[in-house]
Amino acid sequence: MNLEVVILAAGQGTRMKSRISKVLHCLSGKPLLACVIESALTFHQAIVHVIVGHGGEQVQKQLADYKVNWITQEKQLGTGHAVAQALPALKEDSDVLILYGDVPLTPVETLKTLLTKSGDDSIGLLTVRLENPFGYGRIIRDAAGVVQAIVEEKDASPEQREIREVNTGILAVPAKWLQKWLPELSANNTQGEFYLTDIISMAVADGVVVETVTAKQEEEVRGVNSRQQLAELERWHQKQLANQLMASGITLADPDRIDIRGNLRVGQDTCIDINAIFEGNVTVGENVSIGPNVLIKNSVIADHVVIHANSIIEGSEISKHCQVGPFARIRPGTHLSDQAKIGNFVETKKAVIGTGSKVNHLSYVGDALIGSGVNIGAGTITCNYDGANKHLTQIKDGVFVGSNTALVAPITVGKNATIGAGSTVSQNIEENVLVVTRGQKRILKDWERPKKRTSNYTETD
Ligand code: UD1
Ligand code: CA
Repeated sequence: MNLEVVILAAGQGTRMKSRISKVLHCLSGKPLLACVIESALTFHQAIVHVIVGHGGEQVQKQLADYKVNWITQEKQLGTGHAVAQALPALKEDSDVLILYGDVPLTPVETLKTLLTKSGDDSIGLLTVRLENPFGYGRIIRDAAGVVQAIVEEKDASPEQREIREVNTGILAVPAKWLQKWLPELSANNTQGEFYLTDIISMAVADGVVVETVTAKQEEEVRGVNSRQQLAELERWHQKQLANQLMASGITLADPDRIDIRGNLRVGQDTCIDINAIFEGNVTVGENVSIGPNVLIKNSVIADHVVIHANSIIEGSEISKHCQVGPFARIRPGTHLSDQAKIGNFVETKKAVIGTGSKVNHLSYVGDALIGSGVNIGAGTITCNYDGANKHLTQIKDGVFVGSNTALVAPITVGKNATIGAGSTVSQNIEENVLVVTRGQKRILKDWERPKKRTSNYTETD
């Protein structure tokens, strides 16, 4: 059986009060619609159709990398009308899974179960039980518990409004039935819309069984209509991720103060202090210590690393037993070998730092290859940019660079060389030598300190 997924995302999302489409607002760093598309694409053979309307161009442009079929619903005449826009594209022998661009957290397992209910003479309907079902379509069952219809809040009788089992909107239906039922929908209801939910009573009339799957947790089928709801769902989602981490042997100082925006893998006995943010693909080893307010993006951190407070690590690889920070900025292309140490207010970029080497304070190391056992003194700068091009600095094993040294690239410093503090070095340095390029001490005996004037400065100053 072919699978086609239809994702509804044409609604305006007025309650977001936003210039960008609701489905482009992010949950855990990813647009809501992207979350849904990615769920759909986990069914590898599926064709995915996305129905867009309000702000559709913007949505398509931003999510252009996804292999989906974009369909425009010019006027938003209801959920049934929205799905009908996909009818010409659907193959007759497909099963169709209907999803919503603003319902981002439905587990794929649940969708798989729902799809097993879509058959020749049955359809699958995902429902949920709510304490407060206000606003949702209610599931109407007969005395034997067989589903008969869905009635929208605004069309429901007071007795029907007591029903707590509601429609999530998510459905699995054979295309052939959609082809029969959708053209028969009418907008003869309180809202004057073509309700997708009316196909339930049509199914019953055609002898098609409506099989329900009930979502375990309400948040898994919750839609986002406002920024407040988005924030609530974000916190719920982050709490789930935090709980998964703790269950797998990771200590979190506070599970309410961690944000995972992407794919994070963490080894056992790693401790994560408050306000850590992980973005993109991040792998952290075992027994790592991550201090407060650390941002790690698209990086690999090996076992036994210590990352101190307020450090930012992006696009980098940190090997075993390294120490980073506090207040370090590790930019893309940095590779720290085992036991290297990057201290406070140090920025690195495209830099390979050898085993056990140290850049402990206030330095910039960019476009650099640094050997092992090197000590880079405080305030050292690799002058990698000549205003037009970037150049490489190579520092061989065992070099000692004195504080406040400027290394004007391209430059190579030979093994075990020593550079005196305050030097500006622009030529290669041989192995084992001491180089000092600072000026000699000068003494001016008849010099006086300036005295404070009484008047303001004049223009000739
Ligand atoms: C719908 C269901 C209701 C269910 C609820 C769950 C219908 C008639 N009602 O109600 O039973 O309990 O969802 O949240 O289906 N959309 C379009 N084009 C349109 C109209 C809507 O793409 O013309 C999209 C919206 O962007 C949204 C989704 O469909 O993502 C649901 O539409 P909405 O108007 O929010 O439906 P509800 O009234 O909430
Ligand atoms: Ca809704």
